[in-house]
Amino acid sequence: MAELMTIRWSKNGITMIDQTKLPSGLDYIHITDIRHLWDAIKALKVRGAPALGAAAALGVYLGIKDSKAKTFDAFAKDVEKVIRYLGSSRPTARNLFWGLERMRDIAFRFKDKPIPVIKEKLFAEAQKVIEEDRSVCRKIGEYGAKLIKNNDTILTVCNTGILATIDYGTALGVIYRAHEDGKNIKVFACETRPLLQGARLTAWELDRKGIDVTLICDNMAATVMKNGNISKVLAGADRIAANGDTANKIGTYSLAVLCRYHKIPFYIAAPVSTFDLSIKTGKGIPIEERPHSEVKELFFKEPMASARVKVFNPAFDVTDHTLIAGIITERGIIKPPY
Ligand code: MRU
Repeated sequence: MAELMTIRWSKNGITMIDQTKLPSGLDYIHITDIRHLWDAIKALKVRGAPALGAAAALGVYLGIKDSKAKTFDAFAKDVEKVIRYLGSSRPTARNLFWGLERMRDIAFRFKDKPIPVIKEKLFAEAQKVIEEDRSVCRKIGEYGAKLIKNNDTILTVCNTGILATIDYGTALGVIYRAHEDGKNIKVFACETRPLLQGARLTAWELDRKGIDVTLICDNMAATVMKNGNISKVLAGADRIAANGDTANKIGTYSLAVLCRYHKIPFYIAAPVSTFDLSIKTGKGIPIEERPHSEVKELFFKEPMASARVKVFNPAFDVTDHTLIAGIITERGIIKPPY
């Protein structure tokens, strides 16, 4: 079985898995200009907070590698333009902005060097973002797997695996590590309406790795919990405020509320790059709203609602920190009080 790598630099451009084609096809696309990258991010061809961080870092290099600037001031303007543009693609995942800011910092750190050298430094930094993600996710897996007992059944939402990172995952990384450690685990994957990342990506990834996975519709989670089938819920994060309030895929909050009622521990797994300490509480986290067609039409043979019907389609929700038993990071598990 070929190893998957969600996104990487190759042939003078960005090669990524087109996640909109899964699970029916494992297609790679090659991106050579930032407008196509912006579109790919918006359309969720690449998605998941850590993968967006990598896309941002590679994207800055892609956007400036052919800059004709002769002075640092002119070059810095080109860098800023690319950062502003890519930053306008999706608002919620902190990692996207973290990737962009990291690249800006490098440009300024080497401002006294010739422009070709700054370009080399930017390329190296983007590669570093990718390499770091590989080890950070494995660390998250290592810490998180300590929470997993033999015969646990874990419920998860959206996709937090290989496809949401470079090649391992956060919440799914914890599951992968527990599996590698020889623990017998089962997973329930919520399909994750409206874009079905749970059905299309998580179930596909887990099945590919030989992990026992059962797909459920989002509205079945309560019943599965009531039946006593779930020992833990593990979710990822797009942005974590200073008080621990966590934005993640829409539906995560309702799972956390259900966990409280059913006395099931609810954990978040995320790298430090997902924390946004400039935001005090979840109220300050920008929540992306997406096209109505995703709710009414996408994946249906016929429209599933009348054209006149109003739609609210937030891509994320915020889980109150009081509902989170712990946040698993590459530096250890943060326990309340946050
Ligand atoms: O809209 P998406 O698919 O980008 O949303 C992704 C999620 O909500 C993930 O849970 C989150 O980014 C963490 S990925 C490790």
